[in-house]
Amino acid sequence: MAADCIARIARLRERVSAARREDLSVGCVPTMGALHRAHLELIDRARAECGLVVVTIFVNPLQFDREDDLRSYPRTLERDVELCDRHGADVVFAPSVDEMYPREPVATVKIRGLADGLCGASRPGHFSGVATVVLKLLNAVQPDVAYFGEKDYQQLVIIRALVEDSCLPVRIRAVETVREADGLALSSRNALLTDEQRAAAPALARELRNAARAVRAGESDAAKILGRARRALEAQPLLRLDYFDIVDPSTLRPVPEITGPVRIAAAAFLGTTRLIDNLPASPKVA
Ligand code: PAF
Repeated sequence: MAADCIARIARLRERVSAARREDLSVGCVPTMGALHRAHLELIDRARAECGLVVVTIFVNPLQFDREDDLRSYPRTLERDVELCDRHGADVVFAPSVDEMYPREPVATVKIRGLADGLCGASRPGHFSGVATVVLKLLNAVQPDVAYFGEKDYQQLVIIRALVEDSCLPVRIRAVETVREADGLALSSRNALLTDEQRAAAPALARELRNAARAVRAGESDAAKILGRARRALEAQPLLRLDYFDIVDPSTLRPVPEITGPVRIAAAAFLGTTRLIDNLPASPKVA
């Protein structure tokens, strides 16, 4: 059956309530559209685990720190709905900006600590915008489970904290990053790269793999690993490094001496397109 495309919160609630009356569990996949294989993986996971699958598609203005980034963000609703259909989603919730923000929001979410470093350092207000819209979407859908990709690792950690701090009765499921054959993490923004930028982009994933290998091999001095990775990326003419960091997987604070599991995270610009990626790494136990 074709997915029901819904634009109004009231109608969405009716649809979810009807599913609840039939005792169906509800899974939610929040997205900003321009769906690719990584989103489809989230939808497939939700389909396998839940009775009703709701995909939300909303390009959230609150989380964009640059007007040009918001304007150029790919919007492909018709194709997205088709893909949701093919992957068995029951509902596509695609509200307008007015539906989500009928007025300038009075209540927004402030993120402490977890948003200070990594992407938060160069995108002020971004995670407040993400947390605000995710809270609204989870309140609108009221799912049992919500699915997020690990590619946006800082976002994932912040959403887990948001759900815990707001006592939301929803389980957050993380799904591993999906990659192209050359290692580039799938992202809606990849569509904005020129051919030359696309050819240069896998350097980010390559240096993350090299850094993870060094951690596994027992290098405990983060500065050494970071120095090598940053130098290699700074030597790439088309790429402008934003950050390359090794952090604690829960607190996201920098880890100078590696003695346990860490997350290695990076962001870089290719032209005006900003790509992010990350990998987990742990020293091999002898
Ligand atoms: O990861 C995204 O696509 C967005 O940040 C999200 C979680 C849908 C909120 O707008």
